Amino acid sequence: VPDADPRRAVAPIRWDGRRLRVLDQTRLPDAETWLELTGADDTAAAIRRLAVRGAPNIGIAAAYGLALEVTAQPGLGALERGAETLRAARPTAVNLAWAVDRVVAAGLAASPATLASTCRATAQQIQAEEDAAAAAIAGHGRELLDGARRVLTHCNAGALACGGAGTALAVALALPDVEVLACETRPLLQGARLTAWELDRLGVPFHVLADGAAAGLMRRGEVDAVVVGCDRVAANGDVANKVGTYAHALAARAAGIPFVVAGPTSTIDLATPAGDDIVIEERDGREVSERWPARNPAFDITPAGLVTALVTERGTASPVTPDAVAALAAP
Ligand code: MRU
Repeated sequence: VPDADPRRAVAPIRWDGRRLRVLDQTRLPDAETWLELTGADDTAAAIRRLAVRGAPNIGIAAAYGLALEVTAQPGLGALERGAETLRAARPTAVNLAWAVDRVVAAGLAASPATLASTCRATAQQIQAEEDAAAAAIAGHGRELLDGARRVLTHCNAGALACGGAGTALAVALALPDVEVLACETRPLLQGARLTAWELDRLGVPFHVLADGAAAGLMRRGEVDAVVVGCDRVAANGDVANKVGTYAHALAARAAGIPFVVAGPTSTIDLATPAGDDIVIEERDGREVSERWPARNPAFDITPAGLVTALVTERGTASPVTPDAVAALAAP
């Protein structure tokens, strides 16, 4: 399923009304390989091994995976079992459970004859909403960061991770004459492999940066703003995002530059009071070192007090207080 115009944001989750294809992100930037997913088990496996990744996109893929599961085996048993498998695929990004719960609720409200079609329609609705949210986030972020040109980002919060052109990366792309510093993002190199691949395709100037180099460049005045995505925002405004994000927030505070978090309201979880209540995914240590015993927490928590602004499709919270977060997330 190649893209006709390589300058357009890539669409890594493609649904043609019957079949689900996803771009295998483990193979990028070396190969553009598409996988066909057929139900809950293979979709959950693709999410676990990061073939599909990024908070909004694991929600979208899981919604389609569940819809395909009940298309193949119509019935509430398949709906419940498939939902459980998909929810368990990764713990930190709330978008996964949020999207699965939404498909389950729609399925439970449907008649047996319309169960599968209702689930498919709900998945499509979720994807359309995330695409629209990404566009709105880019607009709000552009207003907020007017005048910023040298933007540092971590991980990948572009089209590969989110709806539309992405969230944090779409904010950067909306700034005139932007130059992006893409932090490598150890250990799985979502920045060096994926953000770099997206920026190269789009023809946007960028440099890849070792994660440990970021603080020094901020201190030397070479960064105007840091913009990152998020996997879960707690009710108090604490943010879970890819491991390494917290260090960038500390460095940005020390350098006196804005640290902005961008994400759709589907990433806000009012049921989780604070960052310490968020489950941090621990991945296989061999992703860090094949030779030595290694710890591999995949995310960290940035306290709300270090976040200059939280940019969502509904607007911006700044400062990031519990009231401001609740107002953004209100139904
Ligand atoms: O482990 P990943 O690659 O799924 O982690 C992704 C991130 O941490 C992103 O920054 C986050 O999902 C935001 S994307 C809008």
